[in-house]
Amino acid sequence: MAKKLHIKTYGCQMNVYDSERIAEVLRPLGYAPTDRAEGADMVILNTCHIREKAAEKVYSELGRLRLQKDAMAEHGQRMVLAVTGCVAQAEGEEVLKRAPFVDMVFGPQTYHRLPQMVAEAARAANQVLDTDFPAESKFDALPQERNVDGAAAFLAIQEGCDKFCTYCVVPYTRGAEYSRPAADVLAEARRLVGAGAREITFLGQNVNSYHGEAPSGSGGGAEWSLARLIFEAAEIDGLERIRYTTSYPAEVDDDLIQAHADVDKLMPYLHLPVQAGSNRILQAMNRNHTVDAYRALADKLRAARPDLALSSDFIVGFPGETDRDFRDTLKLVEDVTFIQAYSFKYSARPGTPAANMEFQVDEALKAERLAELQALLNAQTLNFNKACVGRRMPVLLDRTGKKPGQLAGRSPYMQAVVVDASEELLNRTVDVTIISGGPNSLLGTADPKNQKACA
Ligand code: 5AD
Ligand code: SF4
Repeated sequence: MAKKLHIKTYGCQMNVYDSERIAEVLRPLGYAPTDRAEGADMVILNTCHIREKAAEKVYSELGRLRLQKDAMAEHGQRMVLAVTGCVAQAEGEEVLKRAPFVDMVFGPQTYHRLPQMVAEAARAANQVLDTDFPAESKFDALPQERNVDGAAAFLAIQEGCDKFCTYCVVPYTRGAEYSRPAADVLAEARRLVGAGAREITFLGQNVNSYHGEAPSGSGGGAEWSLARLIFEAAEIDGLERIRYTTSYPAEVDDDLIQAHADVDKLMPYLHLPVQAGSNRILQAMNRNHTVDAYRALADKLRAARPDLALSSDFIVGFPGETDRDFRDTLKLVEDVTFIQAYSFKYSARPGTPAANMEFQVDEALKAERLAELQALLNAQTLNFNKACVGRRMPVLLDRTGKKPGQLAGRSPYMQAVVVDASEELLNRTVDVTIISGGPNSLLGTADPKNQKACA
């Protein structure tokens, strides 16, 4: 009988991708995924270390899991408990100390070694810790077969970060920038499409710093840029949509902007974190771009693809942020407009330069600023969603809706769209007329043509 594997994923899309690949590594060992931790033979927490709250969640979840592990032990069963992701990488020893009932701690770069770790954890009741940055690439050792859950898939093309924004733990938890060879990326893209993917999102902590080894005989230099990869991936039959995330504004080059003009399959939605709207703060963050450079970049992208919609990340209350700096952030948001955004209170992370900066901002003031910024950003999202009413747009219906008889999917702009439609349309791109727009999603009706095509 298959052993049950439960993976709980926190944080970014890279973690979602890693969790899928971890499940693939464990499948040959007899583990099949389950939605519930209760009664599972192995539970893995794939964790996030970006803000203090995210990291602390792990310990409270571990406390709950301990009870389930103990309950199973009383019935002579074993729950193998593992922690991976950025908390494991950043404070693996601490996890084992604070939660001694944890069996395995492994970093995001070592999960291809899971078969050995599982064997080791089973042999002795020993704790296993593997948070190396190994010389070999995990990608070469992972199973080639890819399973696709739904029509939209993630594909990691780049990992790590050399940018060292002064608030951020990622350069420490994910290590130096690494780009996968272009031939490997294209092969994985083809396998994903073969397994049913219609949309692929290229992932990387700094996805646009991608510079992967060119396939042999491909011409045009020893390395491919992200732009070149997009142009080539667009040639894959059956692949309908391409996205990429997350981008670093200072490294968006003209070729990439051109790709937005030339590649129809490249969706007109871009997540481009700006973090703040004040040059003083951007400099203290070590972001390598000014406010004007960001504005100019947004203009250039929109000149290439007029319907391009932007989303962004913001941090409020960075050390030294004055009320004036914060007003400048609001001004930038008003001018550029974002259809979606993630905004956070600055969270001091041990070991990062900003944690030791002077003039840390009071928590209550951070909360006030965050509320004001979010009110503005939410209004922009709602505005855009309402402006979509009456428009017809292709929607990739990749899941069932909450209510029976409904399907849901994503618009080109990543909006969640809910449609009354029969299951035959599942995993297809369907023309939808939008009939209403709320803060979080759109409601639409599927074009009758699509229904007939399927009958
Ligand atoms: N505090 C608050 N937000 C942070 N982010 C990264 N580090 C921190 C921090 N220390 C945010 C940035 C980044 C997003 C993924 O998380 O906005 O783009
Ligand atoms: Fe963190 Fe900056 Fe690297 Fe993004 S670019 S992962 S915010 S250090």
